[in-house]
Amino acid sequence: MNTLKVEIDSIFPFVSREEIHQLQDEISLQHSLLINRQGKGNDFLGWLDMPTRISDITHASIEFTTEQLRKKSDVVVIVGIGGSYLGAKSIIEALQDPFPDLKQNRPAIVYAGNHLSQDYMVSLLELLDTKDYSVVVISKSGTTTEPAIAFRMLKQHLQKKYGTPDYSSRVVAITDSKNGALKQMANNEGYQSFNIPDDVGGRYSVLTPVGLLPIRLAGFNIEKLLEGAQHMEALLKKSPLFENNPAALYVAARNALYRKGKPIELLVNFEPSLSFFGEWWKQLFGESEGKQHRGIFPAAVSFTTDLHSMGQYIQDGMRVIFETMISVDEANAPLQVPFDNDNMDGINFMAEKSLIEINHIAEQGTRIAHKDGGVPCIRITIPKINEYYMGQLIYFFEFSCALSGYVLDVNPFDQPGVEDYKNNMFALLGKKGYEERRKELLK
Ligand code: PA5
Repeated sequence: MNTLKVEIDSIFPFVSREEIHQLQDEISLQHSLLINRQGKGNDFLGWLDMPTRISDITHASIEFTTEQLRKKSDVVVIVGIGGSYLGAKSIIEALQDPFPDLKQNRPAIVYAGNHLSQDYMVSLLELLDTKDYSVVVISKSGTTTEPAIAFRMLKQHLQKKYGTPDYSSRVVAITDSKNGALKQMANNEGYQSFNIPDDVGGRYSVLTPVGLLPIRLAGFNIEKLLEGAQHMEALLKKSPLFENNPAALYVAARNALYRKGKPIELLVNFEPSLSFFGEWWKQLFGESEGKQHRGIFPAAVSFTTDLHSMGQYIQDGMRVIFETMISVDEANAPLQVPFDNDNMDGINFMAEKSLIEINHIAEQGTRIAHKDGGVPCIRITIPKINEYYMGQLIYFFEFSCALSGYVLDVNPFDQPGVEDYKNNMFALLGKKGYEERRKELLK
């Protein structure tokens, strides 16, 4: 099996090789703090050995639950927000057929509780009127508003449809092992439940039941996903040296660029199946690094699609961006552009080339154009999109994010800033205990 590769040739001359070299000592120090669990937020490092720590019992339990839910569900609704759904959705979208509905995958996986849209919820409930379904509700804290509202609606819908107590065999709760309303509810109502380890925060939880159960339900091989992550775990922990550790090299490159006035990182994919992976990555880096008025702003684009929209800005707008391109070596099945006798569209010069070959040439052309235009590019290559390499990518980015947070001197495992909107919302909705804030907001 191969390993993902990081190449940084296209970041020169925006930073010099010497500047990258000089970062080695700093990154070696932070690497040691991370793997020896001596850095900031070290009570949230459970994800560091999660690929190897996940138990056979959890595995067996995920298999059992998957079989049970599959037998009785046309649809499984995954309820959760932030780290409680982004990882699962990004892997399912990377691996699934682009037309799952038309090819009638069963169960279909849909999502709820990741926003407050009334129109979405009405439409989902209408669909569920006509389908057999189950719900997997995921919340580490068990108190987050968006999934709590969605779950309350779905629970009542299930109770009406299947009756009490039968409905409860259609609910699986994934939550904290001890605290929170969801844990309490699972105990009272007899839902099957899985624990989110105490030492794993939401955005680092995709390799726990939070991500593994939905991914398995969608039909994918979680053992291969974990194998890929285990491979990365061993590699990234072993040595901090840039030549041996692709995460250390990536962290050095992105921080060097940040220090040189490039505060925006665009994660670029050339495969639409990786679009949602960009959403997971944005949360991981945005919530981990964006604090104390510091941090690289993470954004994501899908090429070549967005070359026809954002391409102009990237090439020619403000020079504050660098790119991290995810490049995929091989497609999963062959396909060539056919020759056409009439050649009315003038593309016979590409005939007999595979689509991925043309995509790679688009990627190369873009990288050169962007470098010429002042946009440095880091390249991360995986051999193909499958469970094994997605497992590598997940662990690679989790490790890189933690290490990069330490380089920035922030705690990459907390998210104090996300409380502010919630406090205002609770105050405006009249929640008990928020009276003072409500007065301030309404004066
Ligand atoms: O990374 C995080 O911790 C957050 O983004 C959470 O995942 C998100 O807020 C959802 O929280 P919870 O799982 O407690 O409902």
